[in-house]
Amino acid sequence: MAEVTYERYEGAAAGGRLDAFLATYEEVYVEPPYCEGPRDVAEFIERYQVQAQRPGFRLVLARDGVEVVGFTFGYRLPADTRWWNNLLEPMPEDFTEESGERTFVVIELAVRKPWRRQGIAAGLHARLLDGLSVERVTLTMRPEPEAAPAQSAYVAWGYRKVGQSHPWDEAPFYDAMVLELR
Ligand SMILES: CC(C)(COP(=O)(O)OP(=O)(O)OC[C@H]1O[C@@H](n2cnc3c(N)ncnc32)[C@H](O)[C@@H]1OP(=O)(O)O)[C@@H](O)C(=O)NCCC(=O)NCCS
Repeated sequence: MAEVTYERYEGAAAGGRLDAFLATYEEVYVEPPYCEGPRDVAEFIERYQVQAQRPGFRLVLARDGVEVVGFTFGYRLPADTRWWNNLLEPMPEDFTEESGERTFVVIELAVRKPWRRQGIAAGLHARLLDGLSVERVTLTMRPEPEAAPAQSAYVAWGYRKVGQSHPWDEAPFYDAMVLELR
């Protein structure tokens, strides 16, 4: 187990911490299956500014000394979210109905390569969800073999696949996962 420390930020404080983990984001997501380049990173920055303003936004950083080695963030789905509209097979209304308090969505979770398999993602994920009063957590993940570590992690933590998600025309097909907390 690495000697890591964790910091959690909420709302505007989290929005202001992008600079702390942006280099980590670039380092991790240049790898397959993501293969992100400068344009993807620019889009990520834009999205982050918007997401950070959503109710319930949280960011957790993992540090080894002063160095950021991993991060995760997410927020509560608002009542008028279109999140579930991205499912290829529609789910019943009592499943997709949101109140603003029902579901927390994990947007990103990443750990730098030299620090992997030391429980850091597990530590980040636990701190991201700690104390939330939501019913469930959702996320989407890539189904390719290169994303096997993420797939194994989410299944080990109790997530189950509820369908396939295709958020925009050029996007890949993702597995939509849900973790029931109650
Ligand atoms: C997925 C990722 C965050 C896991 O980080 P990590 O700190 O290595 O994960 P942990 O050490 O906390 O492992 C948690 C569990 O995940 C699973 N896991 C992690 N890496 C794995 C691998 N290479 N092979 C199989 N299972 C793996 C295991 O179940 C593990 O529990 P265990 O070690 O008790 O067996 C990391 O591999 C990563 O950043 N990948 C690239 C970015 C990414 O895909 N993020 C997810 C986007 S949806």
